[in-house]
Amino acid sequence: MKTLPSLPIRPRRLRQNRTMRAMVRETILTPSDFISPIFVTHGENIKSEISSMPGVFQHSVDTAVLEAQAVADLGIPAVILFGIPASKDPIGEENFASDGIIPQAIRAIKAAVPDLLVISDICMCEYTDHGHCGVLNHEHSHLPEGYVLNDESLKVHAQAAIVHAQAGADIIAPSSMLDGIVATLRIALDEADFQHIPIMSYAIKYASAFYGPFRDAADGAPKFGDRKTHQMDPANAQEALREAELDVAEGADFLMVKPALSYLDVIQRAKAAFPQLPMVCYNVSGEYAMVKAAAQNGWLDEQKIVIEKLTSMKRAGADVIITYHAKDAATWLSNRN
Ligand code: PBG
Repeated sequence: MKTLPSLPIRPRRLRQNRTMRAMVRETILTPSDFISPIFVTHGENIKSEISSMPGVFQHSVDTAVLEAQAVADLGIPAVILFGIPASKDPIGEENFASDGIIPQAIRAIKAAVPDLLVISDICMCEYTDHGHCGVLNHEHSHLPEGYVLNDESLKVHAQAAIVHAQAGADIIAPSSMLDGIVATLRIALDEADFQHIPIMSYAIKYASAFYGPFRDAADGAPKFGDRKTHQMDPANAQEALREAELDVAEGADFLMVKPALSYLDVIQRAKAAFPQLPMVCYNVSGEYAMVKAAAQNGWLDEQKIVIEKLTSMKRAGADVIITYHAKDAATWLSNRN
């Protein structure tokens, strides 16, 4: 038998022990990469678990403050807030009421934890009685009945952005994917003297089935139809660059890809095309629920899976990750060091 020549190149040399692996690691995940979502509802002393998202709760303002403090104590720099209103109507009035659930929560969190960044998602779907992200068509005969009217909806979003900024939001995040929303908000915020408030654009958001559990959590499912005329087709990646390009031109301060796990290729392309802007990805509710369900069945090692998947998002090009795993992951990362 012929003996093999000795190999000069052995990648395994750099993997031979923990210390060597740590030294050559390319992607380092830290708690400062995360944004932790909080769902806020009316009432007092409420902390009610969302059945399809074990470990995630609807909070009243008082317990949301405690949650925000716990997030900050773990070294996580930001929370993103979603509100459940007291009542719903066709234009989602509570979204732009100064005593609405989110302005209340923003004021309370900023008073208690001033250094924590509070991001406010101003989408209308949690507030409208039809569950859509805008004002619906009833009067334009050339558009389908129930179509989300773009420019009319922009005006409502602008009002919400100003009210949330007045309450103290540090960043405004429009998640509806309407055309021209970034420019509309930039102009509205600037005119209201909020030139310093960044816009975190949901630039590339797909019409995804992975949002299912969120719609339970925020009670924001559309009562009919879907969001396919404003959110993107999961089959498209070139179009994602067009969406990002428009939002950059309109003055977005952050870009986002949402969901994350099935769209790592899109994160990579968008980061390559726009390396100058911080890239956010949203590790959404369905991605969270899948891991939780498998872990509860003992089919996956939750801690390892979560760190691996969040690392993969950062490796793909995300600088910041919105994730319901934020507190757990931050805890695990600090225990590891
Ligand atoms: C509101 C909004 C949604 C999510 C964030 N903001 C739902 C949707 O667009 O239908 C989903 C987040 C998640 O699934 O975790 N437009």
